[in-house]
Amino acid sequence: MLIATVLILVPCIVVLMVLGPELSTEQSLTQRLAECHMRLQYLESMYRARQEDVSLLSQYLGQLQTNNGSNVTNVSPPPQPVSNLLDALSPEARQLLRNASHASRSGGSGLTRGYVPAQNIRLPNAYHFLPHLLDDAGSLRPAYFQSKGRSDVSIVLGVPTVRREKQSYLLATLHNLIENMNDEEQNETLIIVYIGETELDAVQLIAKQIETSFEAHVESGLIDIIAPAPSYYPNFDRLRITLNDSLERVKWRSKQNLDFAYLMAYAHSKGTFYVQLEDDILTKRQFITTMKKFALIKSALTKPDQPDWFVLDFCQLGFIGKMFKSAELPYLITYFQMFYNDKPVDWLLTYFIESKVCRTDKDQKHCNLEKARYWQHFRKSLFQHIGTSSSLKGKVQKLKDKQFGSKVPSYYAHTHNPPALVKSNIAPYKNYLLKRAYRGETYFWGLLPQPGDLVQFIFEQPTLLRRYLFRSGNSEHPSDRFYNTTVELLPADSLSENSSVWSTYNTTTDGYLVVGSFDALGVAEGLLDPKIGPIKELRLHVHSDSENWALLSEIELQQMDSNASTLDANAAKPRYIAAS
Ligand SMILES: *[C@@H]1O[C@H](CO)[C@@H](O)[C@H](O)[C@H]1NC(C)=O
Ligand SMILES: *[C@@H]1O[C@H](CO)[C@@H](O)[C@H](O)[C@H]1NC(C)=O
Ligand SMILES: *[C@@H]1O[C@H](CO)[C@@H](O)[C@H](O)[C@H]1NC(C)=O
Ligand SMILES: *[C@@H]1O[C@H](CO)[C@@H](O)[C@H](O)[C@H]1NC(C)=O
Ligand SMILES: *[C@@H]1O[C@H](CO)[C@@H](O)[C@H](O)[C@H]1NC(C)=O
Ligand SMILES: *[C@@H]1O[C@H](CO)[C@@H](O)[C@H](O)[C@H]1NC(C)=O
Ligand SMILES: *[C@@H]1O[C@H](CO)[C@@H](O)[C@H](O)[C@H]1NC(C)=O
Ligand SMILES: *[C@@H]1O[C@H](CO)[C@@H](O)[C@H](O)[C@H]1NC(C)=O
Ligand SMILES: *[C@@H]1O[C@H](CO)[C@@H](O)[C@H](O)[C@H]1NC(C)=O
Repeated sequence: MLIATVLILVPCIVVLMVLGPELSTEQSLTQRLAECHMRLQYLESMYRARQEDVSLLSQYLGQLQTNNGSNVTNVSPPPQPVSNLLDALSPEARQLLRNASHASRSGGSGLTRGYVPAQNIRLPNAYHFLPHLLDDAGSLRPAYFQSKGRSDVSIVLGVPTVRREKQSYLLATLHNLIENMNDEEQNETLIIVYIGETELDAVQLIAKQIETSFEAHVESGLIDIIAPAPSYYPNFDRLRITLNDSLERVKWRSKQNLDFAYLMAYAHSKGTFYVQLEDDILTKRQFITTMKKFALIKSALTKPDQPDWFVLDFCQLGFIGKMFKSAELPYLITYFQMFYNDKPVDWLLTYFIESKVCRTDKDQKHCNLEKARYWQHFRKSLFQHIGTSSSLKGKVQKLKDKQFGSKVPSYYAHTHNPPALVKSNIAPYKNYLLKRAYRGETYFWGLLPQPGDLVQFIFEQPTLLRRYLFRSGNSEHPSDRFYNTTVELLPADSLSENSSVWSTYNTTTDGYLVVGSFDALGVAEGLLDPKIGPIKELRLHVHSDSENWALLSEIELQQMDSNASTLDANAAKPRYIAAS
């Protein structure tokens, strides 16, 4: 491992020296340096893990040797093979071992007083916090394990999942994650799906679904699937009730802590950065590159004497999209193990950072300032929740709490919109298609609009419109509105130069009249000047990048010559869609 460290560092330095002058900016140079630095940290932590092994082994061997002369007979393996075992090791390992066992036997440089020889003191480890792990020798061996052994990647994504009673979004989530990575990103990523179920049948069912849906990606090593042994979990019925929560909730959040700890422990050795995700999220194009760049820039900008970041946050929700350096995961893993029965996992993260940087002799403001240095936010969310049904039965995700259960319609139907070809370059989600929304069969729900995206209504015949109404967002997804989006239309006949229309409306470079825009509540509506005459096309034009998806829960285009509003009896009787 030492050699590996050197092997990595040397090429990095060579690359820097060779490419240095040719790289366009100093910034890219510092970024490369940061990348090398991050990898070095990761390799060092791997090296430390090996050292730990050696230290444990040497303590064990030392104990065997001490027992050699005594009458302890139930020690296995017997003393004889010990020296053979040593012979089998590489000279480097033997030296390490000799050094370590020397240190452990001499008890450092301390003087031994009294009659009992000095023993190493024992530091607590995971078994101390999770004593039930000792009940089964196999408690830390995964019950299910599917891996092609990919490691040493840039970014490891951890996706914990469980069997869901209602709707599972796991496959949609994986599909969305992979779809938003290019080939290069796929090569430097590992997705770990952790199935937090104890019944092997349930585990196998979920694993099978993943393996058949993503055969190529499991085969290429992009996806690992693991599930813990049932004995990894304590008896959840014997947990302490904490925070005055119901037992059900205490169980749920305690299990989540243990799930995260396991997942992180497995991920620790797999790559430079680790990002915690969930099984019901959606992301943006090339999120891997975005995250990696941000991490390297942040690391490069940190001056050597300043504390480096601990969390990079790519999503405002709970624990989703939090990035850590793999080398630092052991801190969190241990912290989660210590307090798993006490607090929910996202609180623990906050307390952890506060323990690191806040002081009792300063106020909250100071604390927040310090925290902001360790916990840095990316300007925009890269991830969004899709699920409304959490894995805790009856628990509904906070953001969607408000309207859950109340009978607020998820869309308003208008069945007399004029015949038109409708299309959009905003990709629809599932069956929430624009054309169905236009017919009043559902709402339109599309992925993250980008600047320049259009939602077009091209009329079969030039149509005189009296009024338009677009309502974006709905009760379940109130934030999925159109932001910074205008309503534009293309008149069928070229307007006379004298027309008063020119002074009423602005025009776009491609000849559309800008007749309105979405307001802060996500609604765009207006009456149209009859002087515009028949219209060929009406469109929504997005001008800014959005952190949210876009949902149209109401589309109404009223013709000048029809009695549409009175015919549209449906408008007053909105339909309901089950919330799950
Ligand atoms: C252990 O036992 C073997 C054989 O019984 C003996 O040759 C060896 O010196 C012993 N080692 C120690 C450290 O007592
Ligand atoms: C080993 O056990 C025997 C009897 O079982 C005893 O006589 C002897 O003293 C013991 N030796 C040591 C080193 O404890
Ligand atoms: C063992 O200790 C010696 C002297 O303390 C040191 O020079 C050597 O590098 C160590 N070997 C290993 C493998 O750590
Ligand atoms: C991804 O990795 C494979 C196998 O190592 C390699 O053949 C391929 O060229 C890589 N693709 C990219 C885009 O880096
Ligand atoms: C605990 O919860 C119960 C019911 O939710 C409430 O009546 C009680 O006051 C709470 N106790 C404390 C100490 O908050
Ligand atoms: C526009 O106005 C000018 C003078 O006011 C008039 O001569 C011309 O006929 C008008 N054109 C149209 C198309 O109405
Ligand atoms: C036309 O554009 C100007 C500047 O972009 C803006 O201030 C004005 O409100 C716009 N008018 C309409 C009717 O949209
Ligand atoms: C809307 O988008 C335009 C073009 O990108 C930008 O200049 C403007 O600042 C945006 N307005 C808002 C309110 O975001
Ligand atoms: C609109 O409704 C009125 C009364 O119901 C009817 O007289 C009229 O013909 C209708 N117009 C059209 C265009 O259907």
